[in-house]
Amino acid sequence: MNGGGQASGQARCMHAGRRLVRTDRPAGVTDATMHAGTLLARVVFAMTRLLVLVMALLLAARSTAAAGGCPGCHRGAPPGSAAVIAVERWQGSVHAGARVTCDRCHGGHPEATTREGAHAGMVSPSDPASPVHSTHVPETCGRCHDPQYQEFIRSRHYRVLQGAAPGEAPTCVTCHGAMHTEVLTPETVAAACARCHNTRDGVSPRIPQEAHATLDLIFYAKTTLEWSRDAVVHARALGREVGEAEQAMVTAEAAFHAAEAKWHSFRFDEILATVERAYAGAKAAKRAVDDAVIRGALEGR
Ligand code: HEC
Ligand code: HEC
Ligand code: HEC
Ligand code: HEC
Ligand code: HEC
Repeated sequence: MNGGGQASGQARCMHAGRRLVRTDRPAGVTDATMHAGTLLARVVFAMTRLLVLVMALLLAARSTAAAGGCPGCHRGAPPGSAAVIAVERWQGSVHAGARVTCDRCHGGHPEATTREGAHAGMVSPSDPASPVHSTHVPETCGRCHDPQYQEFIRSRHYRVLQGAAPGEAPTCVTCHGAMHTEVLTPETVAAACARCHNTRDGVSPRIPQEAHATLDLIFYAKTTLEWSRDAVVHARALGREVGEAEQAMVTAEAAFHAAEAKWHSFRFDEILATVERAYAGAKAAKRAVDDAVIRGALEGR
């Protein structure tokens, strides 16, 4: 309090010209004590602010660590830079939802708080040693998507990717994107293939049309499977005997997943044969469930 008084004395001299003017000052309170009180209040206020700031920083550090340090810091990179665009694309993607964080594809140290620490051992995506360089993308994605990877490495695309002109072949990210993952549909697939397969470049120009027709069948099989699945759920709710239909569904769904992966071999005859099995399985499941429902109705249950 003494120190405060002294300091306030000095402050009072320094601030003599613009002293506080308060009309509600209690009796007996001099300018000096008033000033000391204000100073103390200011010190307390400043310390409280500092404490709040420190706590906010600690909390921010903790939530950044929880989200993985990479997106946390990248959000604050200069607007419009590649570092920010990357995190904006990743946010809201299937991968972000599934907690597939930046480091799962890029490497680095997500627990580090500095850029140097986080980037240690990581090379630029354009460096052939990077796990996200086009020549390594299939292996990197394949760590989590093995069925697609196994089919892709059988394709002509993969052989071109391993050859002298790797830039001429599509990799996983040519069709799916890197940070923001999307899946081509029968409506969009032909244009994606036609980037390289067209009459101008002469690389198998029939492919876009074949791809469209094949993907149409994959989607048709998918819809048929969904109908069958709904029918099984409905019949089960009615108390019907759906064991046989469920068995058929298991087989059909396995065939469908095989067809989805098989697509990545880009061998249309093999893909079509697998889709046909999935479609036949879905129809068998629907027949089994229809039979169960009709039998149940005839038996008056
Ligand atoms: C599913 C894998 C995957 C994830 C997850 C991922 N990336 Fe990428 N990233 C890639 C690939 C592959 C490339 C190479 C881009 C290309 O070939 O188009 C890349 C490229 C980049 C680039 C360079 C872009 C440019 O234009 O030069 C930056 C920066 C980047 N990623 C940052 C991030 C950050 C930050 C995150 C997390 C918020 C992240 N990435 C998450 C796969 C991924
Ligand atoms: C403390 C901030 C910070 C952290 C943490 C951080 N980054 Fe970065 N990162 C940046 C900035 C800023 C840039 C752009 C400048 C540069 O290239 O260094 C960048 C650039 C990149 C690039 C592009 C490099 C290139 O050569 O094109 C990639 C890829 C990347 N970061 C991935 C990551 C990954 C993966 C993590 C987590 C393991 C991570 N970053 C953590 C700040 C950070
Ligand atoms: C660390 C594991 C991991 C890595 C690496 C990874 N993914 Fe994924 N991916 C997932 C998970 C988990 C999901 C969401 C769950 C699911 O449906 O399989 C997913 C979903 C997807 C989907 C479906 C998206 C949708 O909209 O339905 C595609 C396509 C995909 N990933 C492509 C890629 C590509 C391309 C790469 C490489 C650049 C990659 N993934 C790398 C784990 C990974
Ligand atoms: C980035 C360019 C590029 C894209 C995009 C692309 N391809 Fe290719 N594709 C190639 C190259 C290069 C070859 C090898 C051609 C050769 O062997 O002369 C090839 C070969 C093929 C082959 C084998 C052809 C044969 O006659 O043996 C099939 C099938 C194929 N692609 C399907 C597709 C489908 C389907 C799509 C779209 C979903 C697609 N490609 C998108 C570049 C591309
Ligand atoms: C030339 C284009 C093309 C390339 C290259 C490609 N894909 Fe695909 N991918 C597709 C199409 C079209 C579909 C949708 C049809 C299907 O599900 O089979 C698909 C589907 C997928 C799915 C399932 C998505 C879902 O709906 O659940 C995953 C996962 C996937 N691809 C991963 C990969 C991986 C990993 C690679 C690289 C090894 C890759 N893809 C390369 C075109 C491509």
